[in-house]
Amino acid sequence: MEFMLDTVNLDKIRYYQNILPLAGVTSNPSIIKKEGKIDFYVHLKKIKEIIGSGQLHVQVVGELKEEIEKDAQVIVDNLGKETFIKIPVNEQGLAAMKTLKSKGFKVTATAIYTEFQGYLAIAAGADYLAPYYNRMENLNIDAAEIIRTLGEEIKRTNSSSKILAASFKNVNQVNQACRNGAQAVTASPDIFEQALVMPSIQKAVTDFHDDWRAIFGTEKIYEL
Ligand code: G3P
Repeated sequence: MEFMLDTVNLDKIRYYQNILPLAGVTSNPSIIKKEGKIDFYVHLKKIKEIIGSGQLHVQVVGELKEEIEKDAQVIVDNLGKETFIKIPVNEQGLAAMKTLKSKGFKVTATAIYTEFQGYLAIAAGADYLAPYYNRMENLNIDAAEIIRTLGEEIKRTNSSSKILAASFKNVNQVNQACRNGAQAVTASPDIFEQALVMPSIQKAVTDFHDDWRAIFGTEKIYEL
């Protein structure tokens, strides 16, 4: 499983880079907006410095095929050709994907709400598909089933596309995505905090510590 952070907050990325088996960072204009009016390339280069060989997925803003392609070109010119270009799966996005893939760009097909968008993105050769888990659930779409079905399509067509499930509001949604075959997930730092800063985990740690101290009178094994 590849775990990515869906944020461009430098402090959070620095913090979780030291904690998680982090495969990369993903962003989109709404995520960037949360940081205010950042110096776009300077900020993203700082992220690259923090994550080293981790992946960076950056979304285009252009809506027409030609605009998407121009966005993709300047993104790789500034951030390197290993950058994944996130492109929404609609008519113009698919058209741009075809061209960009033929030129060797790395592409993450995003804003996937339906099975059919997924099939098209796989056929277009997208490296990653980003189904929007929580947004699908809000629309009464079975996100887990769509991820499972897209996984089958990837196997059936022997495609190298991977599912990078996104848009999570709780840990259980992430579990469901993993269980149904997503090869990667991207989630906000809040989700990782929810998962790891549970009172029950802390209680277990405190109980073990107390029991150790009761037997040996030291705080740590290395103090014996
Ligand atoms: O990576 C896609 C994701 O950022 C969308 O998430 O929380 O806006 O549904 P959300």
